[in-house]
Formats: sequence, C-alpha cells, structure tokens
Amino acid sequence: MKKSIDPQAVGAMVERVNFEKSLAMRGKVHDVIPGGTHTYAKGDDQWPERSPGFITRGKGCHIWDLDGNEFIEYGMGLRAVTLGHAYAPVMEAAYRQMLHGNNFNRPSLLELECAQMLQSLVPSAEMVKFAKDGSTILTAGIKLARAHTGRELVAICGESPFFSYNDWFIGLTPMDGGIPPLNKSMTLTFGYNDIESLNALFERYPDQIAMVLLEPARVNEPKDGFLQKVQEAASNNGAVFMLDETISGFRFHRGGAQSVYGVTPDLSCFGKALANGFSLSALTGRREIMELGGLRHNKPRVFLLSTTHGAEYPSLAAAIETMRIYRDEPVIEHLYRVGERLRKGFEEAVREAGMEKHLTIVGRPCNLLFATVDHEGKSSQAFRTLFLQELIRWGVLAPSFIVSYSHDDDDIDHTVEAVRRAARVYAKSIDAGTTDGLLIGPPSQSVYRRYN
Ligand SMILES: Cc1ncc(COP(=O)(O)O)c(C=O)c1O
Repeated sequence: MKKSIDPQAVGAMVERVNFEKSLAMRGKVHDVIPGGTHTYAKGDDQWPERSPGFITRGKGCHIWDLDGNEFIEYGMGLRAVTLGHAYAPVMEAAYRQMLHGNNFNRPSLLELECAQMLQSLVPSAEMVKFAKDGSTILTAGIKLARAHTGRELVAICGESPFFSYNDWFIGLTPMDGGIPPLNKSMTLTFGYNDIESLNALFERYPDQIAMVLLEPARVNEPKDGFLQKVQEAASNNGAVFMLDETISGFRFHRGGAQSVYGVTPDLSCFGKALANGFSLSALTGRREIMELGGLRHNKPRVFLLSTTHGAEYPSLAAAIETMRIYRDEPVIEHLYRVGERLRKGFEEAVREAGMEKHLTIVGRPCNLLFATVDHEGKSSQAFRTLFLQELIRWGVLAPSFIVSYSHDDDDIDHTVEAVRRAARVYAKSIDAGTTDGLLIGPPSQSVYRRYN
C-alpha cells in the first residue's frame, strides 16, 4: 500500500479490493466451526458482506486477506496487539523459547521472571498467577473473593459490554442459553459513575457481596473520585475490589489504568496487551487473598487456575519482551499521540461532510471507539455496517480505532482520508433516511441476541 495520500493511488487500491475467495470460503467454515470462528467479534454477523473473510498475514498495522487485499488495521487482534503484528523482537523472543520446548512437568524460572517483570510495572501486583485469557482470570478472581469473604454474590458494572464468556456474566445477557437461573442470580449490577447504585446493593444485600468488579474506565472517565468511592464502599462493606484491566492494562498506562487514576485494587486482571497477541493473562493482587490459592496457609484450599497451558513458555517469553519494550520505549506515549492525530482528523473529516451529529469518536486517544447513529439520531447497526463497508473500500479495517505502536502518521493520514470518503457516502444515506442502495448485504447484528 502506498502510504502518501495520493487520491489516484487510493482509487487504484479500491479497484483491487475484491472478496471472491473469502466469500467462497465463508460457507465452508460454518459447516465445520459453529459461528465460523472462535471469537464472537470476528463473526460474519459483525462485519459487512464486503469485508475480508479471512486474514492471511499481518505486519505492523497492515494486514492481508485471502484475496490479497491489504488494509490498515485498527482493533489490532481484539486489542491484544499493542506493538504491531509479527513484531520482530517479540517474535524472536518467543521463537528462541520455542526451540527449548513449550511445556514441562515442573515449572520454569521463566514463570518467576515474567511475574517479576509484571510486578515491576504494576505496583498492586503483590502476587501473580498466569492463564491464557481474561475470562478465566476474572472467574478465578471471583472464586478467590468468595473464598476470602465466605460470601456468594458479586456486583459488576452493568455498562461494560463484556467481562467473561462464563455464566456469571453471559447469564445477564439475552444470549443466556444453557445457563441455569441459579448462576444468573449470583450476579448483581451497578452503574458506572453511579456510586449510589453500588451503595444501594450493599444496603439490599448486607454481608452477602464477595466482590465488586469493574473496568477502571471505558468510554467515560471516572467522575468525582468514583473509583476511590468504589474502593471505599467495597472496603467498608468487607468486599474484594477488583479492576478488570484486560483492555486498559498497558494501553492507558504501562502500570495499568490504576496508575492513571491512583487506585489500588485488591485484585486485577491483565490480558490482551500483556504479550502482544500471544495468549497470556494474569491475575494479580494482594498477597493475603492470592495466597489462598497457594501452599503456604492453613485455611481451606482454593483450586486456583490450574491449567495445562497456563504457563506455556513462548507466551511467557513474548510477555517478558513485550513488557520490556513498554518499560524502555515510548509505546504508551505513541499510542496517545497517534490516537490524538486520528481523533482530530476524524472529527475534521466528519465535519466536512456535515456528519458530526451522526458519526462520533469517543474514548481515550489510546483506545478510541466510534458511534454511528441514523437520521433520527438512533444508534444503528445498518449505518455502522455502511461506515465499515466504506472504510474497507478505502483500505481501512476499523471496527474501532484502536491504534498500536506500529501506526505511523502516514497510516493515520491515510485513515483520515478514508474516513472523509466514507463520511460522504454516509451523508448520502442520512439524507435518504436509509442505507438501502448503498449497503451491500445485510447489516451487522448485536452479539447478545436471543435468536439468530
Ligand atoms: C473488558 C474485558 N474483560 C475481559 C475480557 C475477556 O478476555 P478474553 O477474551 O481474553 O477471555 C474482555 C474481552 O474482550 C474484555 O474486553
């Protein structure tokens, strides 16, 4: 892909975009794999018909699909790839380790080294336990909190779109097939920036709430010391305070969002960016609670995170190198700088098309999301799909605008040009009051629907 914003070059690229091979394979993969993939956000129901069905490789922030089309990518492996795809120092660290073996019957000192590296960046990490994904870690955190407090209920922030594929979270969504009502009844919800809603739960369920769980921030920033108030409410009521830093960890700050907002959770979950796309997640927190999963106490034992692949060595080697880069290089500063350039460019391009009420960009520059509303100001999947389709047409794959260390100014400027062009098409649909005639194929759909 040519990096300068030469309209003719962009035009030539668009003509090349075709999805023949992808479209042919889409049906086949659904014959074998339920849902066609292993993460809901990658599913066909989340993307326009005119989109790459299968990705074959990536380098930096660029990816190539089955049909040979090249895109600038945002989202970056569901936010796991903070440095860039196939980032050489991380790949080399993982590969060197692979040559020495993946897994043994006794631990490796890599486990200690990786845990200590994490401790050096995250002050609240008195102890560390690894697994492969965020869902597992959060579920383990709940188990620890229940063992620690002798209580059963958990209070989670109801505005976070996702915490875990496990029953305690998915049971609250309309997609609750296969989940016993009892499991659902153990989870309560409160509102972000609404400390009264949490206090009300503690009043209604005295001495019953084991844990308060939330993301430090998502689209909105915490107001009026909200996180400190949550911490205080949890502590006053004898509950464990856990922060889900799956997204914010190593993105908001190298020490996690807890370092930005000055709070010290009892437990935290890190995942995604921990190993630049290698599968590794970490439960961290206070020794007194974490040690319940250990061998050095005489309380009832907690079977905490024992998985065959939990400490798979290439992922640990990748994580150590990734965290070293976070520590020694201006990664986080870069995410904020290019994210800010993109935010400004997006807003200007959208304004030019008169679409500022319909296309908005929100969140921290290191973690930007966009919202699409229709001609009546209502959130719209059809309009979202149209916007995605038009960005794809101009070589940008952006379910959100999550930047990486590999996005440079040329990538951002190309993206802004794509937004400019997509916004013009969007404006036509807004004028018409419909995406009909411009959107090819069906609109994307909400994941959490009861029926297909
Ligand atoms: C905020 C948050 N918490 C937890 C998870 C679960 O992480 P994983 O997909 O690694 O299980 C996700 C995944 O998207 C997430 O966004």
